Amino acid sequence: MLAFKGVLLVGLLSFSFAAYLDDKINVDVYFEALDAGCQDFVVNQLYPGTVNINDVITLNLIPLGKAYSFKNDSGVQWICENGPSECYLNKVYACITTFQLTQVQKLSYISCVASASSKSNSPDEIKALVKTCADKNNIQAADLDTCVTSKGDDLLAGFENRQNSLNPKLLFVPTIRFNNDENTAVEIDSRTNFTIAVCESFSVWPPDVCLQFLDH
Ligand SMILES: *[C@@H]1O[C@H](CO)[C@@H](O)[C@H](O)[C@H]1NC(C)=O
Ligand SMILES: *[C@@H]1O[C@H](CO)[C@@H](O)[C@H](O)[C@H]1NC(C)=O
Repeated sequence: MLAFKGVLLVGLLSFSFAAYLDDKINVDVYFEALDAGCQDFVVNQLYPGTVNINDVITLNLIPLGKAYSFKNDSGVQWICENGPSECYLNKVYACITTFQLTQVQKLSYISCVASASSKSNSPDEIKALVKTCADKNNIQAADLDTCVTSKGDDLLAGFENRQNSLNPKLLFVPTIRFNNDENTAVEIDSRTNFTIAVCESFSVWPPDVCLQFLDH
């Protein structure tokens, strides 16, 4: 599909203009905080890959996964696949996405938490880790706390709306979409080597930063 559009554009417009049209790949990552496969993807592919090719991707992190909400007398309640600590961490990550940080800084934080957290941690251990990683990344732990309490539910609700409008629906995590396209090859390639998966997705000509990774 993209390649076809690229070929058409090369025919119709100048080569450089066609290349400019997809200067960046829009990368949506649907994930959840305590799923081992998501943690592995973030720590070993997404974070180092974004460091490699930050300038040619626009990253949208959607930390919700298979969580869902309902309302009762005490307000909005979230049910998360891997328990209440996952709901809490999803809110922490959601807050991080709203902070004035670069996408590499956001992933540095999330990767710090993802590399050291697991389903078997106690709530206190998770809270301590959230703070340790904030300190390491020069993020004010108190600001993060305030955001989780005051905006966490709303941020997750926004992600829920976005996910509900996905077509086809979210079936597994992580789900990775390039330029809003469902593509099984992209999903698989991203898990094998995210950097290369992105660099091979440019329709016309890969950007300069990619050449070192495509030069086999
Ligand atoms: C609301 O749901 C939560 C989660 O299931 C439960 O712990 C809480 O007791 C419920 N509150 C009321 C008022 O029903
Ligand atoms: C992805 O492939 C590139 C180029 O071969 C390599 O430099 C990089 O280490 C690989 N990354 C991972 C996570 O395997």
